[in-house]
Amino acid sequence: MQTHKNRVAVVSGAAKGIGQELAIQLAQRGAALALLDIADLSQTCALIEEVGGKAIAIHCDVSQEADWIAAGELVKNQYGRCDILVNNAGIYPNVHFDDLEFKTWRRTFEINLDSMFLSAKVFVPMLRANGWGRIVNVSSTSIVTNAVGVSHYMATKMGVIGFTRGLANDLGKDFITVNTLAPALTATPGTSHIPDAVRDGIVNLQAFKRMAVPNDMVGPMLFLTSEDAQFVTGQVLAVDGGMMKTC
Ligand SMILES: NC(=O)c1ccc[n+]([C@@H]2O[C@H](COP(=O)([O-])OP(=O)(O)OC[C@H]3O[C@@H](n4cnc5c(N)ncnc54)[C@H](O)[C@@H]3O)[C@@H](O)[C@H]2O)c1
Repeated sequence: MQTHKNRVAVVSGAAKGIGQELAIQLAQRGAALALLDIADLSQTCALIEEVGGKAIAIHCDVSQEADWIAAGELVKNQYGRCDILVNNAGIYPNVHFDDLEFKTWRRTFEINLDSMFLSAKVFVPMLRANGWGRIVNVSSTSIVTNAVGVSHYMATKMGVIGFTRGLANDLGKDFITVNTLAPALTATPGTSHIPDAVRDGIVNLQAFKRMAVPNDMVGPMLFLTSEDAQFVTGQVLAVDGGMMKTC
């Protein structure tokens, strides 16, 4: 299904994990991709080529304003437009508060939260020029768990929700939607070190008693970035196998 045909999508953190899976499936649905990461993007590019898609790889540290400005120029030169921005890159160093240093706190904020502001500054004008746009910012359902060693991470991921809601209000006049996707613990290279007992404790809070995989996140992201989500903005979509129950 070519649900994203003729769309240009920017996905950060696309070298692996959730971002890689999303990028491949956006390409399968007809979008042209700009892949951003500090890691090597050649595997994602090859997988996109395999499914007949189109992608450019951009080395971008999402915490750096200059990198976002350069990425914006590259996207403009290559595609002439941007329709979809997915802020997926993130880090989750596990450090108990007793050992947490300010530099780790700051770095987590720079990558997980400053990046949302910096990317919007660069890409919102391009979305606005289309009179159409979709922004998805990735948070985490860890914010409702009793996970230990992630106070700095939880702070950034709550910040993502606050920023997303405010940005959705500001961009309503432009008919640009801005939503948060909050994944549950998901099996990616970034979570491969998590002890079985911690994983089982989290999975046990879910209605579905299995750990999520990247593909579980993709369908909801495809929806939020599609035409079908035209009246959905400022929302948090928890993709967590039934852990959070809100109304
Ligand atoms: N995997 C989970 O259990 C889980 C749960 C909830 C939320 N999340 C969130 O989902 C997102 C993706 O998680 P994942 O598990 O796929 O991660 P991952 O660690 O497997 O991949 C993250 C990607 O982001 C890139 N990245 C890291 N720092 C960067 C920077 N400064 N600039 C550019 N790219 C950078 C990495 O190189 C990597 O390719 C993150 O925002 C994470 O916080 C993940």
